[in-house]
Formats: sequence, structure tokens, C-alpha cells
Amino acid sequence: MQRFIDLAECGRETIVELLRLASRLEAVPQPRALEGKVLGLLFLNPSLRTLASFQAGMARLGGSAFVISPGQGSWKLELRPNVVMDGDAAEHIREAIPVLASYSDVLGVRVFAEGKNLEHDLAEPFFSAVRDTCPVPLVNMESAIAHPCQALADWKTLDDLDVPQGGKFVLSFANHPKPLPLAVPASAVQMAAMRGMQVTVLRPDGYALPDPIMNAAHEAAKASGGSVRETDDRREALEGAHVVYAKSWGSPRCYGDPEAERAMRADFGTTWRVGRDWFDGADASCRFMHCLPVRRGVVVEDEVLDGERSVVVRQARNRMFAQMAVLHRLLRGE
Ligand code: CP
Repeated sequence: MQRFIDLAECGRETIVELLRLASRLEAVPQPRALEGKVLGLLFLNPSLRTLASFQAGMARLGGSAFVISPGQGSWKLELRPNVVMDGDAAEHIREAIPVLASYSDVLGVRVFAEGKNLEHDLAEPFFSAVRDTCPVPLVNMESAIAHPCQALADWKTLDDLDVPQGGKFVLSFANHPKPLPLAVPASAVQMAAMRGMQVTVLRPDGYALPDPIMNAAHEAAKASGGSVRETDDRREALEGAHVVYAKSWGSPRCYGDPEAERAMRADFGTTWRVGRDWFDGADASCRFMHCLPVRRGVVVEDEVLDGERSVVVRQARNRMFAQMAVLHRLLRGE
């Protein structure tokens, strides 16, 4: 494995091996496995979990890490190709990536969607530019439409909790004051489909996930024996559900137009905030998942987030073990 950019690119067999390795590293520490190795971390967007879990994981394997957050103690970076750099940005990623790579054995990069033009973001131009200029193993710490580290940790969480391989996984749109990127919903649907689950995307009118994301999920489900479908009927979607994975995302219908989207969301505070009654028809063991950060009382009611169905902290903890497995595999090849 040369890079960890997208679950589909890795393939199911590699993912299953990574999950086994993650569980082994959780059970039996290997504090010298990556001794002398350096992980470079470039964050073009904020983070809590990714920032902390990569550094903690690298330290637990005996390696070290450095963090660069452009504009906060280091130069602002330009991402666009072929521009005259007479604005705020003093450095281009075309130089910054190979320079950071020259100090590192593996590089992790976070660069979100621009959120202005859907076609542009679906094409992943910024992360592609990073990939094309990076001479060392590369980890996607969340790009425009992929968050594979979150998806790997979520898969581990489902396995840890014995959620059935063919169980019913509901990715539900949830209320939020702002249009959010598509990376987490895209990777969650792909992960559950690859795992062989019966996946339902529950969303309001205007929030259907873009075709490339759904087509990739359908393909994954075909290979794994799972299924993928969409609906706006909450009661029917949640009947017998084993997992409710809540996440907000921006409407593809008015992508890049926050004013238009605000109007679409006017009553979502009551209709798309996850509450206890959502689980009335679900399986008795149904879990509540969210990648975090989450806005209490907006996305989900406190009693769900604090209740026994919620596994959000376990998901976050699993980020560390999942990423340790990725780093181990990239740097030791085992
Ligand atoms: N879930 C996740 O990636 O969290 P952060 O944005 O805090 O890293």
C-alpha cells in the first residue's frame, strides 16, 4: 500500500487487513514499531480528532509528528493552479508539499471542499494536486468528498459492537445552520456498502447525494452483497435499523448559494433533529453514530447523544487505532 486516499481505491481485502491490524494494535501495543519515522501533518482546515489522534497514534508507535497549519504560524498556501500570487498566499502547494515531504516518511493532508461549485469539488482538484506533487506515502485526512480515516474507524466501531455485516445502516441527513461538505456522508455510505450492509440514505427533498457518490456506493454494494437506496420517509427508513448515522450536508440543488439553502432549511430544526422518538421502530440494539464535532440541540437532542445508543466517543477513539494501522502498513508494509 503506497497511500491511503479512499476506501474504494484500497479495496475490501486491504481494508479488512487494516481492521485486523488496528484491533491487534489496540490489544497489544507496539511502542517501537515506527521508531525514527516522521509523520508530517498539513491542515488547511480546522480539526480536533484528526489533529490529536494522528499525533497520539504516531507517538504510541514510537514515531514523531509535526503539524503545519497555514496562516497560523506558517505561510498561507495557494491551492489554485496557474494563478498570479499577488494576494494573501505567499507559497504554493506545488512547492510546499515536496518540501514537507522531504522532512517526512509519510504525509497527511486535510483540504476541504471549496463549497462553491459542485462539479469542481467532486473532481477533487486540490487533493489531486497534493497527490500529484507528493513523493512519499500520503494519507487523506479529509478532502472534498472523502474522509477515509473516519470511514475506517467507523467500520472498526461497527465490528467492535458486533453490528451485523448485513444489518440495516441508515445514513440520515440532519439539521445544521450551515451547508457542510459531502466528504463524511460519501465515505460513510461507501464504507457501509463495502461492508455488505443494507444502506438507506434518508434525506429531505433537494438533498439527494450526487450521482458519482451514489454510483460508487451501488458498485461497492454489488460487490459485497449489500444494497443502497434513498428515501425521505423517516418511519419506513428507520424500521428495524441497526445504525442511525447522522450527518448534515449541503444541498446539491443550491450548492454554493448559502442564502437559497437557508430558505430550504427553515423548518429543519424540528423535522431533521435526531430525537429519541426516531428509534421507536428501530432494532432494540440500534446505535447512534456521528463523526463529531456535533452541535447539541441542533443536529441531535442531548438525550440521544448522552444515551446508551450513542457510540460517538468510541468512533473518535477508533480513529487513533485505525490510523495507527494505516501508518504501520504504509511504513512497514506488513
Ligand atoms: N471527525 C473528524 O474528522 O473530526 P475533526 O474535524 O475534529 O478532525
